[in-house]
Amino acid sequence: MNNKFFIKLYSCLYFLYSFFPQTMLGGLPQPYDSIIVLPFDAHGWFCNASQLQECFSKNKIQTIIEVGSWLGTSARFLAEQAGETGKVYCIDNWKGPINPAPFEILAYKQHKKRLDTSYQQFLSNVIHSNLTHQIIPIRMDSLEAAKALNVFADLIYIDAAHSEEAVCADILAWIEVVGKNWTEKKAK
Ligand SMILES: C[S@@+](CC[C@H](N)C(=O)[O-])C[C@H]1O[C@@H](n2cnc3c(N)ncnc32)[C@H](O)[C@@H]1O
Repeated sequence: MNNKFFIKLYSCLYFLYSFFPQTMLGGLPQPYDSIIVLPFDAHGWFCNASQLQECFSKNKIQTIIEVGSWLGTSARFLAEQAGETGKVYCIDNWKGPINPAPFEILAYKQHKKRLDTSYQQFLSNVIHSNLTHQIIPIRMDSLEAAKALNVFADLIYIDAAHSEEAVCADILAWIEVVGKNWTEKKAK
């Protein structure tokens, strides 16, 4: 075997690694372990970074529930803000809103191709960002998850559907979770 062989082998491994970074290192948690990784897609609808940063600067926030994750822009931001020991539970059906606002109908039409692979793309983006140990995807409807999820969160960030009815329903459902969390915390 000569040098050319090793150069080719190295190029091949480098090419594979750039597309499947953590998969090649092994040991990804489920469901990250079971997908074909897509190239990174930075598309997102996230414009609350400064407000959230203020929350992080004033409070100790380790466990976060995010409702509406899309391709993961805000989830990655929240995970990075929380630091290595932080966890972000991402609730999304990855199907788009059931009860959309008029402007959302157009937005999801424009991103129809992205919507079709949004769950796979979300997982891929988290893998590319090396955040699989912090970001836990929960593929569920928001209201269903509010009833089922048993997680004490320091922060709940809601960014799912934007019609008035959907926003109100989400707030009411997740406020109940906040109430339950506090009752349990007080009882301890
Ligand atoms: C505006 S996008 C979220 C944007 C994201 N926070 C970001 O940083 O790019 C809304 C997301 O909420 C999801 N969604 C809408 N209604 C939902 C519902 N009732 N239950 C679960 N997910 C929902 C959609 O599938 C979509 O991925």
